[in-house]
Amino acid sequence: MGGGDIRESFLNELAPVKTIGDLEQLRVRYLGKKGILTAELKKLGGLPPEERRSAGALLNETKIFVEAELAARKEELKELDLREKFASQAIDVTLPGKYTPPGRTHPIIRVMREATSIFVAMGFSVEEGPEVELDYYNFEALNIPKEHPAREMQDTFYVSPDIVLRTHTSPVQVRVMQRKKPPVKFIAPGKVYRCDADISHTPMFHQIEGFMVADDISFSHLKAVLESFLHRIFSPDVPVRFRPSYFPFTEPSAEVDIGCIFCKGTGCRTCKGTGWIEILGAGMVHPHVLQMVGYDARIYSGFAFGIGMERIAMLKYSIDDIRLFFENDLRFLGQF
Ligand code: PHE
Repeated sequence: MGGGDIRESFLNELAPVKTIGDLEQLRVRYLGKKGILTAELKKLGGLPPEERRSAGALLNETKIFVEAELAARKEELKELDLREKFASQAIDVTLPGKYTPPGRTHPIIRVMREATSIFVAMGFSVEEGPEVELDYYNFEALNIPKEHPAREMQDTFYVSPDIVLRTHTSPVQVRVMQRKKPPVKFIAPGKVYRCDADISHTPMFHQIEGFMVADDISFSHLKAVLESFLHRIFSPDVPVRFRPSYFPFTEPSAEVDIGCIFCKGTGCRTCKGTGWIEILGAGMVHPHVLQMVGYDARIYSGFAFGIGMERIAMLKYSIDDIRLFFENDLRFLGQF
């Protein structure tokens, strides 16, 4: 094949090339070791000297032409590539960004944290227990046997005959005592469940259990701890009173009221005219509860209390419907 024919067939093949890869293949076809032009150049040696000169000059010219065409097309394709990339990856910097509003701490969690840090400052450690709990820990080990009427005080969600959603944080008392020797002093914040729903009850709510057992703990310790807690979480001048009550796992038992925040004790709708609002249950740990975990009840005594967090949050923030906490209305949640 002569230089002119090669040039023509090269141009024909070059015309449809659209990618750098195809261009490279074309280069190899003409200029590679076994390429068309390379083969022609090799043949030059076999020609008579007078022909070799002009044929050589023509082939060299063709080679230079081919190389130049290839280089030019390569630049074009690169440029095209780049333009395509720019077009497909273009970012419109004038578009407004996607706004993700910042999250906030839920009011219940805020109150839980505040309460926890007050007790931690008093030297209580923090423990946890499972929300899906054995009947044994939720009732039996707390001095509430199977047919005990106190079981009806708590509307229990049963998972199976032996497994419940814990109805209070008190089972953590038993779990910790099984693990540790006295003295023990801890709180156990967490979720609890009761089948109940109205403006002051939700099927899930939060409690903080408090527990302290050592060899010389009396009701006055309980009073001091709870009074200073309530004074810190509400205000130092809030009145606190202890009322006799009943829980199977404490003896004696008490319910604790604070002076109504809304009417300052004169009587209103929230306190049902009494001037007091019930805020927690408490008492001295029943000796039977200690004995069941192998604590010597002749040596050790202690107190326990359970505080409802929603109650505290409602009073602190003047909220009259507990369900607001769990409806996830951002207009409500954004206020804290
Ligand atoms: N567990 C009780 C309740 O949820 C509260 C409580 C805790 C009472 C500890 C006494 C001692 O009703």
